[in-house]
Amino acid sequence: MISWDEYKEEGAVAEATPAPVVEAAQTALQETAAVTEAPLEPAIEAVVNAVIEAPVVEAAIAEAPINDTLDRAAFENKSDENPAIAENIANAADVIANMDVTAGLEELEAGGQRIQVDQKRMINCRADLNQLVPFKYDWAWQKYLDGCANHWMPQEVNMNADISLWKSEDGLSEDERLIVMRSLGYFSTADSLVANNLALAIYRLITNPECRQYILRQAFEEAIHTHAYQYCIESLGMDEGEVFNMYREVPSVAKKASWSLSKTHSLCDPSFNTGTPETDQELLRNLVGFYAVTEGIFFYCGFTQILSMGRRNKMTGVAEQFQYILRDESMHLNFGIDVINQIKLENPHLWSEEFQEEVIQMILEGTQIEIEYARDTMPRGVLGMNAKMMEGYLQFIANRRLAQLGLPEQYPGAQNPFPWMSEIMDLRKEKNFFETRVIEYQTGGALTWD
Ligand SMILES: [Fe+2]
Ligand SMILES: [Fe+2]
Repeated sequence: MISWDEYKEEGAVAEATPAPVVEAAQTALQETAAVTEAPLEPAIEAVVNAVIEAPVVEAAIAEAPINDTLDRAAFENKSDENPAIAENIANAADVIANMDVTAGLEELEAGGQRIQVDQKRMINCRADLNQLVPFKYDWAWQKYLDGCANHWMPQEVNMNADISLWKSEDGLSEDERLIVMRSLGYFSTADSLVANNLALAIYRLITNPECRQYILRQAFEEAIHTHAYQYCIESLGMDEGEVFNMYREVPSVAKKASWSLSKTHSLCDPSFNTGTPETDQELLRNLVGFYAVTEGIFFYCGFTQILSMGRRNKMTGVAEQFQYILRDESMHLNFGIDVINQIKLENPHLWSEEFQEEVIQMILEGTQIEIEYARDTMPRGVLGMNAKMMEGYLQFIANRRLAQLGLPEQYPGAQNPFPWMSEIMDLRKEKNFFETRVIEYQTGGALTWD
């Protein structure tokens, strides 16, 4: 490990001829008459400074051999010994000396007015996107800060109890094992679909820096979620090929993935752009499809099943991972709803009667797909729930999504049979939730250069 001490040229001082140093010190003491009267520490400092500044010592330091621990040769520039390198460096210097500082800034009106907050818009904004402030959408920045405050990593969760339960012959019933397999099968690829949609479709089309800041944070959280599922699958020693291919091979899982993917295809085309009512609505379809349906409905059967398992003291490590993920996901969902509603506010012509009908239809389709998934994963009652109860819960969730988007509820009177889910979603970091953390983050102070 490199320490700062190595940068002090102690060797140089130590190997300087002692006699001139002593002589210089004596001279300095004689010249500093006040020293004897002065308090001890300033007196010592005065002597040390006098010694170092004495001409004879300066000369000794300059000529002293270099500390062996420093390979000075490595820091010397030998580029002039190689004509090809020397020419490259000279060329680079030439280019920079004659650089046009406005090149590349044409789109940003170099020298134009500074950004005003009312120039900022969710989509089709022409103001400079490289300037985070002044903020227009404080809620987006606040969500970014909240997301960072909730940071966690999958390795923090102890998986030992899960491993022994999963490997024991009679630890879990067949129905419980099916739920664990299907959940990991769906989620292990679903979060990749969401992350890819963020990076390849949404990011460039949302033309607001504070929202992009949150989208970047969300994208990292999606990576952590995929990591968490991979960590569970690996810890439990599951067949990775089987689990990661479920979104293509198991019909109830494939239907969900395929529905989500159908909402991202056109936007992933690099030539796609917003700017017409049709393309702006296509972006809205994507936002509804991913935020309100994929993250807002498709995640809820699996989350409820696994968290119910955790409440019964089974697969508590997997359940804890899902708990952290659910907390992140409820923030993703709320962010997406806020983005959609802000786009509606700024572009009321997009939210036509016809388009509202289409969005309602999307929510209903998503609910139906998730109900089918519930039936497939719960052929019988299990963990204090059954497919019928889940159907009621999903209808309750769908009503909430519709209401959040300002649309009429489609399942009148649907009730929440799992009120404990809301409590888990509202979990805050300050609660006992984080007491189970098993490792500390590696902070700047703990990093080494080795
Ligand atoms: Fe996620
Ligand atoms: Fe998410």
